[in-house]
Amino acid sequence: MAEKESHIETSMEETKKYSPPEEFKKKANMNDPGIYKYAEENYEEFWAGHAENLEWYKKWDKVLDWENPPFAKWFVNGKINASYNCIDRHIKDGKGDKVALIWEGEPIDESTKYTFNELKEEVCKFANGLKELGVGKGDVVTFYLPMVPELAIGLLACARIGAPHSVVFGGFSPTALADRVHDSESKVLVTADGYYRRGKKLNMWENALESLESTPTVEKVVIVDRMGRKDLELDDSRDVYYHKLVAEQSTECEPEQMDAEDMLFLMYTSGTTGKPKGVLHTTGGYLTGTMTTFKWVFDIKDEDIYWCTADIGWITGHSYLVYGPLANGTTTIMFEGSPDYPDKDRFWKIVEKYKVTVLYTAPTAIRLFMKWGREYPDRCDLSTLRLLGSVGEPINPKAWEWYHKVIGDSRCPIVDTWWQTETGMILITPLPGITDLKPGSATRPFPGIQADIFDAGGSPLEPNQGGYLVLKRPWPSMLRTLYKNPERFKKTYWSEYGINIYFAGDGARKDEDGYFWVVGRIDDVLNVAGHRLSTMEMESALVDHPAVAEAAVVGRPDDLKGHVPVAYVILEGGRTGSDELAKELIGHVGKIIGPIGRPAGVYFSEDLPKTRSGKIMRRILKRLEAGEEPGDTSTLRNPEIVEELKNRVQ
Ligand code: WT7
Repeated sequence: MAEKESHIETSMEETKKYSPPEEFKKKANMNDPGIYKYAEENYEEFWAGHAENLEWYKKWDKVLDWENPPFAKWFVNGKINASYNCIDRHIKDGKGDKVALIWEGEPIDESTKYTFNELKEEVCKFANGLKELGVGKGDVVTFYLPMVPELAIGLLACARIGAPHSVVFGGFSPTALADRVHDSESKVLVTADGYYRRGKKLNMWENALESLESTPTVEKVVIVDRMGRKDLELDDSRDVYYHKLVAEQSTECEPEQMDAEDMLFLMYTSGTTGKPKGVLHTTGGYLTGTMTTFKWVFDIKDEDIYWCTADIGWITGHSYLVYGPLANGTTTIMFEGSPDYPDKDRFWKIVEKYKVTVLYTAPTAIRLFMKWGREYPDRCDLSTLRLLGSVGEPINPKAWEWYHKVIGDSRCPIVDTWWQTETGMILITPLPGITDLKPGSATRPFPGIQADIFDAGGSPLEPNQGGYLVLKRPWPSMLRTLYKNPERFKKTYWSEYGINIYFAGDGARKDEDGYFWVVGRIDDVLNVAGHRLSTMEMESALVDHPAVAEAAVVGRPDDLKGHVPVAYVILEGGRTGSDELAKELIGHVGKIIGPIGRPAGVYFSEDLPKTRSGKIMRRILKRLEAGEEPGDTSTLRNPEIVEELKNRVQ
């Protein structure tokens, strides 16, 4: 243990050599508490200063309107276009020939680069194509695509014409897609004929077609020809190929002047009930927040080659693959494939090939690389890397050290960034060169952000006491509401401690240095390999099967994925469990939610631990799965079942 700690201290010394972003030097004495103090005391002015870095058609009248919490307005009456700011602004600054987007396909010999000039042309063509299909300001467009360039282009095309996008992760099932299309009332769906996964050709069109059966709002479907399939039966009045749609379009498209508070996009995420929540982000604040945090957290320089490994189907891909980097004019990489295809060195081959300087990935991936061994990264030249990022779940110190030592050659600082789909931008994070790192801690709130740990009653806790993570002040890229559901928005995030306090749903503690240590979700949400899944959603999928009477899903700690879902199932009268039925149920959940929702195991049981009022005590099942003692069972109606299950689980 002692040895380990000394290693970490030495590496901390190394990381301190990094010089902080220029902006720090201007605004503060460089060292803490300089910039933090300034932002703390002048947080509206602080954010307004950053918003000034964007180009506005009309400046705001007021930085923040927080008169009617929890409904915030940032940059009130400001007019802006996100697509213009991510592309045209840089062309105007003379960066038209700089590479904006690098796309690396799954097949090893397939890749493309787009300069800002080229990106503008593609974005304008698609924007004009969407207009031709009748898409206008305020019309939500749903994307159900693999990681193809058309996805990044599509986001910016939508932003250009003021049509909010709603991206549904390509691994979701037809049912999940249909639910999201339905809720957003999209008239246009953009999808593909298929995609590659580890060399195999997989269908996508069939999934899209299946969901179209129950989504009557969809009038037009745009299909990206990824696989060159010739067997698609198209409905000519509805379906059009992307390449045909854009072929004759103009490469100019005047950006729509959007209000700062106009919706930029919806991102559906799992909540504690079965129905996914449409997290709504707006234009001016979101772009200000993602641009600023991207620049500061990754200490971005003009020559950086930045790679975020997340899929654009998640918020990380939106904020830190597309909007954050492009708002800064940074070269951003998009990778279609998997880390182990054609071999387990693919990530490192990409770093070598493009001379990546900043890499942003997830602890679940790092743990996988650790398992595969250092021979794979050691084959490649990783000397261009200067900074490493982590996101999605707490990074365990062992993985942190491996990442630091093996990938970062003990040179590169690691920024462990805490945030959520709802927060839009990174909120708790080190600033390279400024914050001393502690492996496993996301360290401190970003300047201007007020985070704290509350107990159940709403009192701030003393250092090192575990409690609930809260945010005490609005920030520009916060979600504005849940689409068509302001009541759920209030109830989920702003009712635990009063209408001014954002309840993040995470358990955490703050140490004696004010560093935050996030433990994980405290609600019925699972974090599986950095993806958020609702146990309720899985339970409804199970109960949907005719053999199932009742079900409870809980997370089991897993070395690679953080947690995996396991299902406890009570069968309909008279039925008995079998391996076959277990497989069938796993497949059934996978079909309803998508492959990421498949339970790792199914237990059949006569009964489950329940309160006297009949509520399943998931907390007890969770403890059993973690190998812990079940705790107090005296309030249960059926305490004897706990012993029985305990014997079975262990
Ligand atoms: C939840 C949000 C935001 C990008 C990806 C996930 C967990 C995220 C960290 C971190 C500890 C983290 C939290 C959070 N989480 N980053 N650095 N340390 N936990 O987005 O699907 O909205 O999930 O991910 O539990 O609430 P998401």
